[in-house]
Amino acid sequence: MTTYTDKGEKHEQGRFLCFDHLTFWVGNAKQAASYYCNKLGFEPLAYQGLETGTREVVSHAVRQGKIIYVFSSALNPGNKEMGDHLVKHGDGVKDIAFTVEDCDFLVQVNTPSYNLLTSANPLYPPVATIMHLPYFLLSQKARERGNDSSSLCVFASIRPCRPSGKLNFIDHVVGNQPDDEMVPVVDWYQRNLLFHRFWSVDDKQLQTEFSALRSIVVANHEETVKMPINEPAMGKRKSQIQEYVEYYGGPGVQHIAMNTSDIITAIRNLKERGMEFMSVPDTYYSQLRENLKHSKVKVSEDLDVLQELKILVDYDDNGYLLQIFTKPVQDRPTVFLEVIQRHNHQGFGAGNFKSLFEAIEQDQHARGNLTILTPNGVSKNM
Ligand SMILES: [Fe+2]
Repeated sequence: MTTYTDKGEKHEQGRFLCFDHLTFWVGNAKQAASYYCNKLGFEPLAYQGLETGTREVVSHAVRQGKIIYVFSSALNPGNKEMGDHLVKHGDGVKDIAFTVEDCDFLVQVNTPSYNLLTSANPLYPPVATIMHLPYFLLSQKARERGNDSSSLCVFASIRPCRPSGKLNFIDHVVGNQPDDEMVPVVDWYQRNLLFHRFWSVDDKQLQTEFSALRSIVVANHEETVKMPINEPAMGKRKSQIQEYVEYYGGPGVQHIAMNTSDIITAIRNLKERGMEFMSVPDTYYSQLRENLKHSKVKVSEDLDVLQELKILVDYDDNGYLLQIFTKPVQDRPTVFLEVIQRHNHQGFGAGNFKSLFEAIEQDQHARGNLTILTPNGVSKNM
């Protein structure tokens, strides 16, 4: 594991502040938005569709704390762009928007590197294969207004009738890349957005008996926007990253981590709402109790409760984090979600990766995808 201290070059003016929102392209925006409201405690924020004069694409925006997701679907037959996207990727994240200061300046200084499209200025990476994501830069003022478009119809506040999800803001967004494509993407972030390397792990540190991956985290100068980029590494069996890439039809967003200040209540509530999470065996907690005896850090939450809820713990001498991962949120084994609470710890749970990956591998096996890899690249089922 490597932590980097060099933040590199800084924009002359105009900072990246935070994740603003994520847009998903899905088969049925109404039902997708409803899933996030019912199972995760989001509330309807805005709607754009036939009734608001939008004829081609319908969008439902939902919000919880500072987290905003927008779900969009085609309204008419023959929408080739959205149709092709859906056939290839299934439901997935189409773009990531950042809130920035001085949007005009940032767009202007970066214009040579970007391919500017439409009046909303989505910024496409110059290499088409990089996650297939346009990056919208939204001005801070637009964020403060609550919307970037006057054509959205804002819902009246609706009182939640079920326990709160207690999710506050987007902590990090993770992208998966095919083999050997992680470093070029990291370079792209460094060159074009002036992000820097924040943290990395290689496949020797991130492996189970069967599979392995590499990961580099890039961050903005203030380290308020963090994006881990993964790629699969050769193991005995197919990596979960490779499984993602095959089912997503290329690179894309693997998981979105949402920060909470009370993970125990959050997960109790989300489980009550019917959200499904990955589970680790009880041996994880007996090992954890043993390891914590020799640690400088003290976990203030009750370990019995963490074990009951299957919340994972990672720590160093200065602090710890608590995290848990959902099952994939669509039928394809692609995008999933994470809930994370930090106590003076800025990692991503490297100490939990092995346990987590073993849990994922069990599901991968149930899907018939934990295939054996042979030296000539042919894989076969177990
Ligand atoms: Fe994560």
